[in-house]
Amino acid sequence: MTILSGKHILLGVTGSIAAYKAADLASKLTQQGALVDVILTSGAEKFVTALTFQSVTGRKAFVDADLWGGEAHILHVGLGHQADLLIIAPCTANTLAKIAHGLADNLLTITALAMNGSLLVAPAMDAGMYEHPATQENVRILQERSVRFAGPADGRMASGLSGKGRMLEPAEILGQARLALAKNGKLNGRRIIVTAGGTQEPIDPVRYITNRSSGKQGYALAQAALDAGAAVTLVTHPTGLATPIGADVVEVRTAQEMLEAVLKACETADGLIMAAAVADFRMKHVSEHKLKKRDGIPQIELSAAPDILGTVAQARGSLKKLKVVVGFAAESRDLEENAVAKLKSKQLNFIAANDISAQDAGFAVDSNRVTLLYADGRQDALPLMSKDQVAETIVARLTGFLE
Ligand code: CTP
Repeated sequence: MTILSGKHILLGVTGSIAAYKAADLASKLTQQGALVDVILTSGAEKFVTALTFQSVTGRKAFVDADLWGGEAHILHVGLGHQADLLIIAPCTANTLAKIAHGLADNLLTITALAMNGSLLVAPAMDAGMYEHPATQENVRILQERSVRFAGPADGRMASGLSGKGRMLEPAEILGQARLALAKNGKLNGRRIIVTAGGTQEPIDPVRYITNRSSGKQGYALAQAALDAGAAVTLVTHPTGLATPIGADVVEVRTAQEMLEAVLKACETADGLIMAAAVADFRMKHVSEHKLKKRDGIPQIELSAAPDILGTVAQARGSLKKLKVVVGFAAESRDLEENAVAKLKSKQLNFIAANDISAQDAGFAVDSNRVTLLYADGRQDALPLMSKDQVAETIVARLTGFLE
């Protein structure tokens, strides 16, 4: 299940060379469980065919000829009425102008006018056309009507020119579509902080101590919170994972940097999920210069790194907005006993405990098996799930503390 599962998405494709990328977008939406109905304008049909889209969505793709077919009277309003979201990608300057001014001269623009749901536009045109005052005025008109814009991006265009006007990549449009669908979610108006990945404690300018955390569970939690409509601050070390679209990312390396970022974000946040595997130890003295072999094997002396959840627990009295704090406990033995001790000492609302000695759960793999332990003594042993499903469950439980 994703936020796109079972949703009716209308994808309008207009006459730009970026139309070929719309097939990838249609495929990605379909893979995430959406029912995707595609409408091509006659311009789009010059670049791609209805068959291209039918092949990836498994559903009929509509063209202007359908407007004059036997079912036209149903089609011209029917498609828009069913849809949760209309995405126009790519959207040419011409179609942008038509929808800004309420023109309805083809199946796509009629549908846009007859539509009840939200509209997401991904412009694609030459930079000069996008910057033209007429287009800029049309963008402003649509933004005032709460139409969402995905891009355009800066970069090289098919004409050889460079500038603002490139269609955003399908993955980014997909992320924007998720945000559009999430806007009425239960966490709408709330800010949730998620920490992810491990931390890196420097030894010298080239070496550091870290751990095996991949960041996957934390990134899945950030996406789940976004899907529930929250504003998300993702505090993470550079993991190389794709950033969930819409999250405010704060990159940190050390436990101290993570502590500072978390405390600052806690001032305005409603919830904190500490999924990061924070270092417990750091170097007592970080060498300013690279340690050299010729100087012999270094003796490393460690000291305690800050306990972030412990510090948040102490500050909780002054963090008026912060209503819910969730921790993780990665244990290789005495799972329940250790998790309960952490739940209490860190004053958490609940903790997600997992056995890291299991092969199919924990670090680096895509699945996880966690038990949720609550401050009031309740326990909830979840079965083996994907990290995405674990994230959705944790976010749903967190939402209960904010209602
Ligand atoms: N945590 C933290 N600051 C630290 C270490 C951990 O805030 N310096 C958080 C983790 O993000 C997690 C929870 O505390 O949500 C438990 O982390 P874990 O490493 O399992 O526990 P520790 O507190 O490090 O305790 P122990 O070393 O006994 O396992």
